[in-house]
Amino acid sequence: MRLKVVAGNWKMNKTYGEALMLATEVAYDASKVHHQRLLTILAPPFPFLSAVSRSIEGTEGMAVAAQNCHQEEAGAFTGEVSVPMIISAGARFVIIGHSERRMIFNESNELLLQKTKSAINHGLKPIFCVGETKAQRDSGKHFETIKEQLDETIFHLNEFSFLEIIIAYEPVWAIGTGVNASAAQAQEMHAFIRQTISGKFNQKLGDSVSIIYGGSVSPKNAKEIFSCKDVDGGLIGGAALNTEDFSNIRKAMISCLE
Ligand code: 13P
Repeated sequence: MRLKVVAGNWKMNKTYGEALMLATEVAYDASKVHHQRLLTILAPPFPFLSAVSRSIEGTEGMAVAAQNCHQEEAGAFTGEVSVPMIISAGARFVIIGHSERRMIFNESNELLLQKTKSAINHGLKPIFCVGETKAQRDSGKHFETIKEQLDETIFHLNEFSFLEIIIAYEPVWAIGTGVNASAAQAQEMHAFIRQTISGKFNQKLGDSVSIIYGGSVSPKNAKEIFSCKDVDGGLIGGAALNTEDFSNIRKAMISCLE
């Protein structure tokens, strides 16, 4: 049975005190409302990784993720953060290939593969993002786009490394726009990704990888999206910045498991 995941990507939001308060509130909520198949992940900005990790310590079914990492282990890379640093701060996951990294910071598929390999080599689990733009969807190229993103990145991994990955399907047009993919659109793409993985590796792997959806998930639409057969949870942006909304999204996931 696949792991279900609700992850909050805080992006570049919150100050230290606010981050600690949010993490503490979410951990309290998760200690009251939980399910053994659900993993709740918080992805705060780098400076708060340690403090957020400490504040969720001991809460079952919770983990911390970084939002990015550098591909090298250490060295003269002013301003960058390596995988061993992230692990030493208490995180178990790292988001790689978010469309904001791809588009604003020009991160190529080649670079994303290097980052993914570095993470896996050190035991940090990637939440690897793929997603098409509005223009790509409008021209009917969404499946082709996702296939290419997979082919050029994580399809270069071996099967054992691939087992470490969570995939996040985040259509760019749905991120921060209030326009979510419909449940049917999400299901169709998740099934496509799963079939593509089964074709590349084997069906067992395709069946076992968790694929989560991101893009304007809210307490209102979460249940419909999460109840799709191939959707294993969500990567939440805006609604993860508010304890109540995030809690209701977690509850929507749990209600799909009962
Ligand atoms: P929103 O939920 O704000 O649309 O952001 C989604 C996202 O980019 C999560 O990584």
